[in-house]
Amino acid sequence: MYIRRGVPYVIFWTLIVVFFYITFKQFSVVRKSSPVYFRKINSSQIDRGNLLNLNPFRYVINTDCDTSFLVWVVTSYAADVSARSALRRAYSESELEELGVRRIFLLALLHDDVQNKTHVTQNAILDEARRYNDIIQGNFIEAYKNLTYKHVMGLKWATQYCKNASYIMKMDHDIVVDLYKIIDVIKAASIPHNIVMGYVLRNMSPIREPMNKWYVTRDEYIADFYPDFLSGWLYVTTLKTAKDLVDVAQIYPKYFWIDDLFLTGIIREELGVKFHDIHEIYTTNNEYLNCCLKARTKKFKCDFAVGPNGGDTELQVRFKDFAKYCRSNCFPRSKKFSVTNTCIVAWHDPNLGRGVAQVSPLQLNVV
Ligand SMILES: *[C@@H]1O[C@H](CO)[C@@H](O)[C@H](O)[C@H]1NC(C)=O
Ligand SMILES: *[C@@H]1O[C@H](CO)[C@@H](O)[C@H](O)[C@H]1NC(C)=O
Ligand SMILES: *[C@@H]1O[C@H](CO)[C@@H](O)[C@H](O)[C@H]1NC(C)=O
Ligand SMILES: *[C@@H]1O[C@H](CO)[C@@H](O)[C@H](O)[C@H]1NC(C)=O
Repeated sequence: MYIRRGVPYVIFWTLIVVFFYITFKQFSVVRKSSPVYFRKINSSQIDRGNLLNLNPFRYVINTDCDTSFLVWVVTSYAADVSARSALRRAYSESELEELGVRRIFLLALLHDDVQNKTHVTQNAILDEARRYNDIIQGNFIEAYKNLTYKHVMGLKWATQYCKNASYIMKMDHDIVVDLYKIIDVIKAASIPHNIVMGYVLRNMSPIREPMNKWYVTRDEYIADFYPDFLSGWLYVTTLKTAKDLVDVAQIYPKYFWIDDLFLTGIIREELGVKFHDIHEIYTTNNEYLNCCLKARTKKFKCDFAVGPNGGDTELQVRFKDFAKYCRSNCFPRSKKFSVTNTCIVAWHDPNLGRGVAQVSPLQLNVV
C-alpha cells in the first residue's frame, strides 16, 4: 500500500514509535520483575531458620590454608572415612602441592548413637584431622537437611583462610574427578569475577510428592520453578565471588536445605552472578567412566572429567591413574568413538541372550 505524505504519513510513523515503545517497555518490565529480596532485608527481620542464629560456623576442627591457586572443598559425611581415604590416595598431598591445590574436607558432628554404631568417634575424627591436616568440622549435626550449613561453611572458610587463592572448587565426596582436566579448564576459561562454572540445571521445579527424598513443601519454597543453578557435584568460582555468595547467604532471611540450589541458584541470582556452563565434561552414569578405563589400551581420552562413583569409592583411584596416564599418552576421541557411542548398554550386546535375559541399564560394555 502506498502511503501518501500528510496526515496518514504522520499516523503511520506514530504507530511505529508507539509499537517500539510498548515492546521496549515490556522487556524492561520483565527484567525488573526478578526478585530482589536481598535489598529488603534488615537484621530484625531475620527469622529462626536463618544461618546466623545457629552459629554453625564456629569451627570445631580448623586448619590453615596457603595456596595461591585453587582451594578444593569436599563435602564429606563425617562417618564415611573410606571416601576421604580414596581421595587422599588418588591425589596425594604432595601432588596437590605441585598442582597448587589445597584440598579440605568439610565435616559436621556425628550424633552419639551414630558414633557408637559406626565406631567413627569424635576422637577418631580428631586423630584423622591431626594426621592429614585437611579437615574442618562445623558446629552442627551431620544431616541431609543441614547440607546448606556445610556448603556455606566451606565457602566461608576458604574466604577467611585462603586469602591468596584465586579459585575455589566445591565437590561432593562421592564424585569422581579428573583434576588435571578441571585445572586445564580453569586456566583456559580464566574465570572472571561474578561467574560460576559447572553443570547448569535449568527450569527445574520443586518436587511436591511427599514420599520423595527431594520433597519440598510450599512453606520451604513457594514458587513453581527454581532459578537456574549449578549441580553441587562439582563447580568452580573465584574466591571473590564465593565471598559475595557467603555474605548474602548469611543474611538471607530464608534458609533452604537444598544446598546447591540455595547458593548457586537463589543467592547467585540475587547477586546477578552469571554461569559458565561446562556440562559436556560431566556424565551422570558412572559406567561411562568405567568404559573409559577399559579403553586405556586404545589410548582414547575420556570425554568426561566428572561423574558419580556409583557407590564404588575406589573408582576415584583408578580413574585418577587413568587420567594421569592419559595426560601425555592419549588422543581425543572422534564423534564415532565417543564414550556414549562405544559404551553400549548390555541388552544391545549380541553376545548376551542365553538363558534368562539379564537386563540392567547399568551393565555396559566396551565394544
Ligand atoms: C526492619 O524491619 C522491622 C520489622 O519489619 C521494621 O520495624 C524496621 O523499621 C526495619 N528497620 C529498618 C532500618 O528498615
Ligand atoms: C599470602 O602471600 C603472602 C605473600 O606471598 C604471604 O606473606 C602470606 O603468608 C600468604 N598468606 C597465606 C594465608 O597463605
Ligand atoms: C554411646 O556409647 C557411650 C560409651 O559407650 C555411652 O555412654 C552412650 O550412652 C552411648 N550413646 C548412645 C546414644 O547410644
Ligand atoms: C542440624 O544441626 C543442628 C545443630 O546441630 C541440629 O540441632 C539439627 O537437629 C540438625 N538438623 C537435622 C535435620 O538433624
